[in-house]
Amino acid sequence: MTYAIIGSGAIGTALARQFARSNIDVSVANSRGPESLQGLVAELGSHVTPTTVPDALKASVVILAIPFTAIGEAVRGAAAWNGRIVVDATNAIDFPAFTPTDLGGRPSTELVAEMVSGARVVKAFNTLPAAVLASDSAQAGGRRVLFISGDDTSANAKIVGLIERLGFAPITLGPLAEGGLLQQFGTPLVAQNLVKHR
Ligand SMILES: NC(=O)c1ccc[n+]([C@@H]2O[C@H](COP(=O)([O-])OP(=O)(O)OC[C@H]3O[C@@H](n4cnc5c(N)ncnc54)[C@H](OP(=O)(O)O)[C@@H]3O)[C@@H](O)[C@H]2O)c1
Repeated sequence: MTYAIIGSGAIGTALARQFARSNIDVSVANSRGPESLQGLVAELGSHVTPTTVPDALKASVVILAIPFTAIGEAVRGAAAWNGRIVVDATNAIDFPAFTPTDLGGRPSTELVAEMVSGARVVKAFNTLPAAVLASDSAQAGGRRVLFISGDDTSANAKIVGLIERLGFAPITLGPLAEGGLLQQFGTPLVAQNLVKHR
C-alpha cells in the first residue's frame, strides 16, 4: 500500500504530521512542486517524501487535501484508477461567505467520485479543524474520533485500518448518500472534537 497526499496546506500538513508520527511512509505533493516541500520534510523526517502531483496520483491511496474547486485540475493527469482508493478530505465551501456550496442536495464526495471515475472513494479527515487533526490522537484516556463514509466497504475498511494505525478512533457512517451527507461541511458532525473511550 502506498500513500500520497495532494495538498500541503493546513490539512495536508496535519495529515503528513500524523503519518510521520506513526512511522508510515507518505509522499506529499502540492501545486508549487517538490522543492517547496523541503522545509516540511526537514521538520517531519524521512517518512515524508516530496513528490509531484503526477507521481502522487500513482499511489494506491491518494488523499485529496486541496480546495474542492481544485480537484478537477489536480486529478486530470491520473492514469486509470483501477480500483485504487481516493480519500476525499475536502469540504465544498463558498468563500468568502464560508457557507456550504449548493450542490442540490448531493454529497460533495459523490461529485469527487465522478472526477476520479474508476477509483474507490472514501470521505475522511474532513471534519476536524486542521490544528486539531494535527495534534495528538490520544486524548483524555481515549482516541480522537474520525468519521468516514464511502460506497465500497472494502475500501472503507482499508481507510479504517489506516485511521487506526494513525491512532484515531474511526466511526463509519455508511455509504456516501447517507454518511457522506452526514459528515460534510455544514452538518452537525463537522468540527466536533470527540474522544472515544474503549
Ligand atoms: N483548514 C481546515 O481546518 C480544514 C478542515 C477540514 C477540511 N478542510 C478541507 O481540506 C482542504 C484543504 O484545506 P486547507 O485548509 O489545507 O487548504 P490550504 O491550506 O489553502 O492548502 C491547500 C493546498 O492545496 C494545494 N493545491 C491547490 N490546488 C492544487 C492543485 N491543482 N494541484 C495540487 N495541489 C493544489 C495547495 O498547493 P500550494 O501549497 O502549492 O499552494 C496547498 O498545498 C479543503 O477542501 C478544505 O475545505 C480544511
